[in-house]
Amino acid sequence: MKIEGIVAVVTGGASGLGRASAERLVAQGAKVVIADLEGSNGAAVAEEIGGGTRFVAADVTSEAQMEAVFDAADEMGAVRAVVHCAGRGGPIRVVDKNGFPGSLETYETVVRINLIGSFNVLRLGAARIAKTDSVDGERGAVVLTASVAAYEGQIGQIPYASAKAGVVGMTLVAARDLAGRQIRVCTIAPGTFDTPILSRLTDEVRGSLARAVPHPARLGHPDEFAMLACHILENPMLNGETIRLDGAIRMPPR
Ligand SMILES: NC(=O)c1ccc[n+]([C@@H]2O[C@H](COP(=O)([O-])OP(=O)(O)OC[C@H]3O[C@@H](n4cnc5c(N)ncnc54)[C@H](O)[C@@H]3O)[C@@H](O)[C@H]2O)c1
Repeated sequence: MKIEGIVAVVTGGASGLGRASAERLVAQGAKVVIADLEGSNGAAVAEEIGGGTRFVAADVTSEAQMEAVFDAADEMGAVRAVVHCAGRGGPIRVVDKNGFPGSLETYETVVRINLIGSFNVLRLGAARIAKTDSVDGERGAVVLTASVAAYEGQIGQIPYASAKAGVVGMTLVAARDLAGRQIRVCTIAPGTFDTPILSRLTDEVRGSLARAVPHPARLGHPDEFAMLACHILENPMLNGETIRLDGAIRMPPR
């Protein structure tokens, strides 16, 4: 699919990997709607990106709020792409340090945002893309975001790793399910990227994360994620696959 002239929805677009994806999509000629939480600085980011980028406040777990995002995108033209980056962690142990079972509430919250939110964005986005005309044999594509934690969850990441493994699991079945509608689905599983999610860590921890990457021995740049997201949209043969983007890192238990 050619990116120039399409309308794309980018969730989590106010920050980090989503913001970089929105910037690159606009640079390549797409019109973009950023969906992010009410309290995010999505409006300011949309203005900084320019090119008619719009911000619509939405929680990815809400049907009504995400429908409003796609309504706004529809007004700009045919929605052909979704890059879904919204997500967050929430650490718990299976049994906490005082011997109590890990919080079911935290587990549910993290699974809701990362897994249920992904399916919500996928189903609402795919329904919109399905209404567009087929161009060069396809209607559009959805890029989801997992994590290397889907494969090597570290101690404390039980809700996040479970949710991201669910995203990996939905990728092939979604691609098969949507094939008849000429819509592709791929997932990116990032390693360690230099985004605000990591800014809470000390320089020492960030440095050791960077050194743990075999090559290149540094944190990923958000635009390297955006490059892959755009390539997935552009390459018609990429479908049903989760691609690790991680400099060959394999996370240790902690
Ligand atoms: N940065 C990394 O190293 C890394 C590694 C692996 C996976 N990831 C994944 O990549 C994605 C993007 O992460 P990032 O590093 O850019 O983080 P980030 O914190 O910079 O950006 C995430 C954005 O998602 C938004 N968001 C969170 N919950 C939301 C919700 N319910 N509805 C709408 N928006 C919501 C936040 O407001 C934020 O703007 C996440 O899914 C994250 O799990 C990141």
